[in-house]
Amino acid sequence: MFLRIITLIGFIAHGECASNYTFSPDFLFGTATSSYQVEGAWNESGKGENNWDYVAHRNPEFVYDASNGDVACDSYHKYEEDIALLKNLGANFYRFSISWSRIFPKGYPYSPNAEGIAYYNNLIDAILAQNITPMLTIYHWDLPQPIQEIGGWANSHIIKLFAEYARVLLENYSDRIKYWITFNEPAQVCNQGYGNILKVPALNMSGIADYICGHNLLKAHAAVYHLFNDTYRTRNNATMGITLSAEWYEPTTAEDEDAADRARQFKIGMYSNPIFSTNGDYPQVMKENIGSRSAAQGFSRSRLPQFTSDEIEYIRGTYDFFGLNHYTTKMINNVPVINNSVLFENDMQSELYRNSSWPMDASRREAIVPWGFRKLLAWIKDTYNNPVIHITENGCPDSGELEDNVRVSYIGSYLEALLEAINEDNVDVRSYAVWSLMDNFEWRFGYIYRYGLHSVNFTDPDLPRRPKSSATFFKNIIATRAVGDYPPLS
Ligand SMILES: *[C@@H]1O[C@H](CO)[C@@H](O)[C@H](O)[C@H]1NC(C)=O
Ligand SMILES: *[C@@H]1O[C@H](CO)[C@@H](O)[C@H](O)[C@H]1NC(C)=O
Ligand SMILES: *[C@@H]1O[C@H](CO)[C@@H](O)[C@H](O)[C@H]1NC(C)=O
Ligand SMILES: *[C@@H]1O[C@H](CO)[C@@H](O)[C@H](O)[C@H]1NC(C)=O
Ligand SMILES: *[C@@H]1O[C@H](CO)[C@@H](O)[C@H](O)[C@H]1NC(C)=O
Ligand SMILES: *[C@@H]1O[C@H](CO)[C@@H](O)[C@H](O)[C@H]1NC(C)=O
Ligand SMILES: *[C@@H]1O[C@H](CO)[C@@H](O)[C@H](O)[C@H]1NC(C)=O
Ligand SMILES: *[C@@H]1O[C@H](CO)[C@@H](O)[C@H](O)[C@H]1NC(C)=O
Ligand SMILES: *[C@@H]1O[C@H](CO)[C@@H](O)[C@H](O)[C@H]1NC(C)=O
Repeated sequence: MFLRIITLIGFIAHGECASNYTFSPDFLFGTATSSYQVEGAWNESGKGENNWDYVAHRNPEFVYDASNGDVACDSYHKYEEDIALLKNLGANFYRFSISWSRIFPKGYPYSPNAEGIAYYNNLIDAILAQNITPMLTIYHWDLPQPIQEIGGWANSHIIKLFAEYARVLLENYSDRIKYWITFNEPAQVCNQGYGNILKVPALNMSGIADYICGHNLLKAHAAVYHLFNDTYRTRNNATMGITLSAEWYEPTTAEDEDAADRARQFKIGMYSNPIFSTNGDYPQVMKENIGSRSAAQGFSRSRLPQFTSDEIEYIRGTYDFFGLNHYTTKMINNVPVINNSVLFENDMQSELYRNSSWPMDASRREAIVPWGFRKLLAWIKDTYNNPVIHITENGCPDSGELEDNVRVSYIGSYLEALLEAINEDNVDVRSYAVWSLMDNFEWRFGYIYRYGLHSVNFTDPDLPRRPKSSATFFKNIIATRAVGDYPPLS
């Protein structure tokens, strides 16, 4: 009884504060997906094999529920149904990605696949026909397997291969696309895929392959940005950016502030500093720490590759916006003992942990910390000279239930934090996308974690989509431009 009264008071008090700020009419709301996670049709219409197809087929236990993206949500065939869901939400934009292996089945730039090019033409036209703006991600982790086999992002030849692939997309789609994103989450590609075992190709060469991967990826990003900026931008008065995933890092005590800043520089700045900072290049603390540790370890040069001054200039400023994927916040402790073994975490010398007093999502995967979102946005603004920001992903997982009240509270509280960032901290945020439009293939977690505003019944061969409570809640926000009441977080 006592608890219920407290909850009720909290709810009412909250309702009063909640509605003061609203989103402007030109603020864009949308949802995000990616090709491998929703499309299915893995071997149809001329598509080649990508690195996730390869691993999920040959090594099914790599995915914790032994599933794969062969069919996923079957959006390849059901895209019109998906666009109807967006239409019903009142979404202003839809962020999706292109499967490289549909465009060039072998990855290398020969024999473009006309059916693949046509599929995305149809998708883009169908989105536009509903008065929804398409936001196109060029690379969201599904690398053609033949390119993976020559080393993927650890082989510098990929820079030209990626630019050739991107050129075909720019040639074919730039008359209709307003928002281009070169990469989704480089840190997840490189640190998790090349430095760890959390993503394909799971090389687990931490402190070496992650840095090489990042180095090539940053150059590939810049190459495509210059191609866009020099030749294609004006076709549709478009903008291009890169999407970085970033958590907020909160120091445990004042003594941990340096460690928290190191964590921000290693985990975010490695990719943002070369592109968004005034001087470009990797963060100073990375160059210093990795350089001195490499020397002590007997390396003849730093494990962090060096950019030439021409390369620093070539990469610096290659953005029109900062694409931000944000999910959660972590606490940071300084790690006082210097550990000599070769590992990214040892270079960083900061320990990340979840504060057990924070509320969690329904899957208990991540903490729900809306104030961390606001602090992160202010940090990006202050560190990188107030860039235009698009929130290209935000959301939380559960088991796919229709009454997803925790997701409602998550979205409500994060959008309130966003309104404070916009109105009180003057952060220039132009759009917000929920990850995701619907439940889909969550990489190593298969179909265990569900992030959708719509559920998908994966055991029904028709893969029916149904709106969850969060879809209704989000639809109301889009229509009213105000965050409505939501259940308090516990
Ligand atoms: C919101 O508006 C109400 C009524 O106008 C006002 O009493 C309250 O102080 C405002 N809250 C905040 C957080 O500004
Ligand atoms: C495509 O893959 C499925 C298994 O996912 C298989 O049953 C089918 O025969 C394959 N089709 C072709 C054309 O290879
Ligand atoms: C689309 O790309 C293909 C492959 O590069 C090219 O042959 C074709 O001319 C392009 N179409 C348009 C409309 O630019
Ligand atoms: C990955 O590397 C770490 C650190 O070198 C090691 O402890 C771990 O066993 C490796 N994991 C796998 C699956 O190889
Ligand atoms: C191009 O888009 C920007 C907004 O991104 C707008 O301010 C500008 O007026 C547009 N220019 C043209 C020529 O449409
Ligand atoms: C983009 O093109 C404009 C106009 O040509 C140029 O002024 C600007 O420097 C270019 N941006 C970058 C990052 O090269
Ligand atoms: C150094 O790091 C390695 C790899 O994580 C770990 O196995 C080892 O226990 C660490 N040593 C110390 C003294 O912390
Ligand atoms: C957890 O967070 C609370 C405030 O949110 C703070 O007071 C506390 O010190 C934190 N605890 C740890 C162990 O980080
Ligand atoms: C999902 O589909 C299966 C097969 O049609 C059906 O048995 C099951 O009840 C459905 N689950 C839900 C939650 O609707």
